[in-house]
Amino acid sequence: MLKALRGFASPMDTDVTLCRVEEMPDGGMKHFEIMGYDVMVVRLGDQFYCVDEACTYKWAMLTDGHVDRERLAIVCKDCNGAWDLQTGQPKDPPAKFPLNAYRIEAEGDDLIVTFTY
Ligand code: FES
Repeated sequence: MLKALRGFASPMDTDVTLCRVEEMPDGGMKHFEIMGYDVMVVRLGDQFYCVDEACTYKWAMLTDGHVDRERLAIVCKDCNGAWDLQTGQPKDPPAKFPLNAYRIEAEGDDLIVTFTY
């Protein structure tokens, strides 16, 4: 029984095609909803990043903020809190708790995220 419960509680990964690569301009960011969860994707050159969209401070939508290219960070427009786009870890206060960061890759023409839930 305990084994079954542990298995049930384990996180699951699923690959989700978000959009075509050409739909994400360099420096652009976009909101996506995956199974009811809000995530955001950022493109910097040939690199893509995917993190939760709602900040962990006051649940602001981080796509309203801006990308700090040099620090690979997403910065909140309301309070300048910042998170690392690669890891989701907080970089500048008041950001304190991490965002979930998801593996994302271009496969051919498609942009695919491995979503963990
Ligand atoms: S309001 Fe959420 S980080 Fe600024």
